[in-house]
Amino acid sequence: MADLKGTSITWLGHATVLIVTAKGTTILIDPFIEHNPKYPAGFELPSNLHYILLTHGHGDHISDVVPVAKKHNSTVVAIYELADYVAGKGVEKTIGMNMGGSVEIEDVTATLVDARHSSGAQDEQGTHYVGVAAGFVLAIANGPVLYHAGDTAPFRDMELIHELYQPKVAMLPIGGFYTMGPKEAALAVRFVAPEVVLPLHWGTFPPLKGTPEQLAALVEPGVRVIAWKPGEEFSL
Ligand code: NI
Ligand code: MN
Repeated sequence: MADLKGTSITWLGHATVLIVTAKGTTILIDPFIEHNPKYPAGFELPSNLHYILLTHGHGDHISDVVPVAKKHNSTVVAIYELADYVAGKGVEKTIGMNMGGSVEIEDVTATLVDARHSSGAQDEQGTHYVGVAAGFVLAIANGPVLYHAGDTAPFRDMELIHELYQPKVAMLPIGGFYTMGPKEAALAVRFVAPEVVLPLHWGTFPPLKGTPEQLAALVEPGVRVIAWKPGEEFSL
């Protein structure tokens, strides 16, 4: 069974996830807060929020990045064009990387990996090119390897993510419509071969119909699919 060795993972609804390592590094992925109907009411982010990671430019993944980064003095990590875009919106500290590359953020090695999805950022001026959609692999020193897939369809090269990084915990979208649903996510689970699946991007809006129960019925018996609720911390 996956031992997270002191790392905690908290789902904040949709694809928004807060990770705190045993050493105390705080990482928020895809901040969607103000307009997120599933954001846990009254949930307070850590005052010291070191890093914000963005998988792609859609509003349901980046809409709160600027106020949160400003308030918490966070460094934003994203694909190059998206990092540049949020820097243009007033985020002072950004790291713009690209696919297959890694960056050391304290005790975490963050690697940008493929996703199958579109990526554009919309504001009053229209839609902007902000690079391609991505996922993140987070290898925590003396801790587990985590994978946040962002928004994606399944793709065979998820096998490379297993081969290269062997994540113990996979955070995968399962809601359908904008991303893969349970049927496709079950294949993604086979490719990534994690011990634990934390389902994301489901139940937020009516079209996102996929459920953890549906996924759980489709994966190998040895894989744990966690039916978590927003605001719940997952740790082992
Ligand atoms: Ni998206
Ligand atoms: Mn999305």
